[in-house]
Amino acid sequence: MRQRPVLHVIKKKRIGNLELMEKSVLTAMRHENIHGNEISDKCFDENKCESCHSTWAWKNVDFKHNKTDFELLGKHKNVSCSDCHFIYNNSKVLKQRFASLDQGCVQYHKDIHFRQFVDSGKEFCVNCHTLNNWNPVLFDHNNTRFSLDGAHKNLSRTNCHKEIEKGEVRYINYKIKDAACKSCHS
Ligand code: HEC
Ligand code: HEC
Ligand code: HEC
Ligand code: HEC
Repeated sequence: MRQRPVLHVIKKKRIGNLELMEKSVLTAMRHENIHGNEISDKCFDENKCESCHSTWAWKNVDFKHNKTDFELLGKHKNVSCSDCHFIYNNSKVLKQRFASLDQGCVQYHKDIHFRQFVDSGKEFCVNCHTLNNWNPVLFDHNNTRFSLDGAHKNLSRTNCHKEIEKGEVRYINYKIKDAACKSCHS
């Protein structure tokens, strides 16, 4: 992403009538664009700082998040902007990140499955989880290679999915390689 051409805009307007200078250009002149490349063109309406900021306080931001391709759904609706966008060091804001934020879950959430549902950098969390809680409500065992019929229907999860310990980490094994009867029934 390229740097905002704020100065360029100012120059162009100066050639014409000074009075044509919009408030936004003046604002940008007075205030350095602290966002650098963190705001993409699609969110920077008409190059105006006021498309998000009120003119009387920088802190006062009005931004519709569905302009991004990361809609705030479920529990994310109640998370404060700064929890996702600010990087802190001892409660001091080090950096504000917007466009460069990763959309992946495991950067922010503990991957209790220890990478079983991450493949070649792609995450499959939303196959089983919604954004309302971590209950695996979308999961249906019958969509796996091994549907649960007959006596298998009444088993508890731990009958088949055992905890694995690897050094410090413990996780439940969901990737059963061999689903043939004899792998469990000898
Ligand atoms: C749950 C985490 C989360 C919360 C809460 C959140 N955001 Fe975001 N936001 C993101 C992610 C992830 C992106 C990156 C989307 C993308 O890849 O385009 C983003 C993108 C943005 C962008 C656009 C960057 C661009 O591409 O131009 C802005 C501006 C922004 N958020 C502002 C806000 C504001 C203001 C709030 C509070 C009302 C907020 N965000 C709340 C996660 C969040
Ligand atoms: C797409 C929305 C968006 C646009 C456009 C935008 N900003 Fe921001 N800006 C934000 C958000 C979100 C914050 C974080 C607000 C907060 O402190 O909670 C922020 C914070 C700031 C802050 C720091 C406020 C503080 O108290 O730390 C300054 C200064 C600022 N913006 C200047 C600008 C300038 C100058 C422009 C135009 C060149 C601009 N912004 C354009 C969304 C935007
Ligand atoms: C194939 C289905 C499936 C996928 C995909 C999946 N999960 Fe889960 N997840 C479960 C099941 C089943 C449980 C509940 C049992 C458990 O704790 O293992 C669970 C539980 C969780 C919990 C804990 C809930 C609690 O009560 O503490 C978290 C956190 C979680 N998953 C995160 C993730 C993340 C992050 C991803 C993506 C990397 C992911 N899950 C992908 C099936 C899935
Ligand atoms: C991932 C492990 C696993 C696989 C694969 C598996 N089973 Fe099972 N099965 C179990 C467990 C655990 C039980 C409950 C404990 C037991 O009875 O051994 C069980 C119980 C059963 C029972 C009931 C036994 C009883 O005495 O009540 C039958 C019948 C059965 N399995 C048949 C099969 C058949 C047929 C296949 C292959 C299509 C198969 N199982 C594949 C784990 C497995």
